[in-house]
Amino acid sequence: MRPPKSTRIPRKGAIIVTIQNLVKSVVSAALLTALSSTAALAEGSVQAGQEKAATCAACHGASGNDSVLPNVPKLGGQGERYLVKQLHEIKAEIRKVALMTPIVANMSEQDMADVAAYFASLPAARGAVEKSKLALGEKLYRGGDAKLGVPACSACHAPDGKGNVSAGYPALSGQDTPYVEVQLKAFRSGDRNNDQSDVMRMVSARLNDKEIAALSSYVAGLH
Ligand code: HEC
Ligand code: HEC
Repeated sequence: MRPPKSTRIPRKGAIIVTIQNLVKSVVSAALLTALSSTAALAEGSVQAGQEKAATCAACHGASGNDSVLPNVPKLGGQGERYLVKQLHEIKAEIRKVALMTPIVANMSEQDMADVAAYFASLPAARGAVEKSKLALGEKLYRGGDAKLGVPACSACHAPDGKGNVSAGYPALSGQDTPYVEVQLKAFRSGDRNNDQSDVMRMVSARLNDKEIAALSSYVAGLH
């Protein structure tokens, strides 16, 4: 019996072609959505968002970037479109974040648009890369690994790690290292599966723990 489509791993020779097609199809699909659905999105107000974000500070910090808790993502300077998508999916429990479920439960489309506009307007965080992680992290981020079939992260998350705001690809630069590590492992195990076209599940499937640790440290220092 053949395994279900989503868990089938492509033949070795086909991996690179598959990933290249994936990058192409995800990029064009996201651009199409960006073009076709902007009108349907609620317009966010930074000012209204600031008031509504008061409840977020307990965990994400007042600046969105100074949480005292471990594994809480930095939100300041993150792309608006990406933030709205995550809030929707956390509310719908497509992405499971137990700590946030009660907080987003009563948020309307407008509330989500407003807090997303607010956090996107704040300055982005800056972090540092651990020296011992720099070489491997940089190599994978910028060039991927053709033999393993890992595409360059920079193709979607941009060379400076700022992501692609209109396509909804998240910024990674300055992000909290332990948080990034948890997310890459969650994509790899399939615990996080809200990525369009399985893109991050395919990317992370071929990364080992050492490579994930190097990338997680590298992006924190990227700017
Ligand atoms: C009780 C703590 C808590 C509060 C309060 C909270 N969050 Fe979160 N939030 C988290 C945690 C923890 C995660 C990461 C969970 C994970 O590992 O996936 C998260 C993740 C997120 C993400 C995903 C970010 C990314 O990079 O993918 C967004 C967006 C977000 N929170 C927005 C908000 C907003 C907006 C508010 C206020 C309305 C808020 N959060 C309030 C704990 C909290
Ligand atoms: C083909 C495009 C593409 C490539 C290549 C790619 N990513 Fe992603 N990545 C995405 C998209 C799209 C998302 C957002 C998924 C979602 O909507 O939840 C994402 C999400 C992430 C997240 C979660 C961010 C957060 O705030 O929770 C991390 C971490 C990440 N990618 C790291 C990487 C790394 C490291 C690489 C290289 C090994 C990489 N990505 C390569 C498209 C890509």
